[in-house]
Amino acid sequence: MTGPSSAPDPLAALRPRLPSPLQEVVDERFAGHGVRLLLKRDDLIHPGLVGNKWRKLAPNLRAADGRPLLTFGGAYSNHLRATAAAGRLLDLPTIGVVRGQELADRPLNPSLASCAADGMRLHFVDRSTYRHKSDPATLAAILRAADAGDAYVVPEGGSNALAVRGCQELGAELRGRADVVAVACGTGGTLAGLTAGLTAGLAPEQRALGIPVLKGGFLEEEIRRLQDRAYGGPRGDWSLDDRFHFGGYARTGPELDAFADDFEIRHSLPVERLYVAKLLYGLVALAAEGAFARGTTVAAVITGSPFAEADHAS
Ligand SMILES: Cc1ncc(COP(=O)(O)O)c(C=O)c1O
Repeated sequence: MTGPSSAPDPLAALRPRLPSPLQEVVDERFAGHGVRLLLKRDDLIHPGLVGNKWRKLAPNLRAADGRPLLTFGGAYSNHLRATAAAGRLLDLPTIGVVRGQELADRPLNPSLASCAADGMRLHFVDRSTYRHKSDPATLAAILRAADAGDAYVVPEGGSNALAVRGCQELGAELRGRADVVAVACGTGGTLAGLTAGLTAGLAPEQRALGIPVLKGGFLEEEIRRLQDRAYGGPRGDWSLDDRFHFGGYARTGPELDAFADDFEIRHSLPVERLYVAKLLYGLVALAAEGAFARGTTVAAVITGSPFAEADHAS
């Protein structure tokens, strides 16, 4: 990885498609209300490091500076798969700490199998240890047990201050291009950075809208905390709409599935089901409610692409 700042950036060799394309789609569910819909195709940035994974991992991969990268995730984590892919692409050792000791004795599911195929060393921990992984003593014990004392540690979901600042670039690419920028939220890191990028400098009035895919209502505070860490205070004009999580993470239902299937056919867009489907569903519902004034341009950030088996996780 990079040493002195004059060394070539190893990530540049991966030729990311940046800025990512911004495409207008014609959809009467928006056009009928005088609303333009744009798709910010972060899913096209890189086939291995898709969507917000590039934005969040790239600064961490640089900071790891060749040290093994250790991170955390559940059995179907998009973040674990992307970290493993980054390890393969950059020839960097990766260690995935997986929630659920019981999984250690079972055949790997397709998502974890993909991590392992990319060279990630998987270390399974029980759920209680996993819950306490941010306590310094628990983390130290995990690192010892995983034989990863020298690792560069990235938190679950990848949302540390570097990742948040990496997502700022996404906002900068959209400055002046849309009135509302909408994104699906897990940890909220992408929204925390994107909204800072949207409003930096002399940008016109723009706001960000987050659609949480987890149930719980804890995210506003978490986003403020992430912005505190990354910027030392609040940034941007953003809000959340908590109505479109469909029961929680990876929860879905026939209505959401039918919606996503239909969106794929209408717009030739592969729709990632854990996050992006809920975002697009939420935007269609909001447009129908008249939540966007006529003349509004909405940009939906396509933060990922489908991973077939994982999308049907429950
Ligand atoms: C496809 C996709 N979109 C959105 C998100 C949410 O990102 P964040 O955790 O930064 O809110 C994730 C997180 O893993 C994701 O995989």
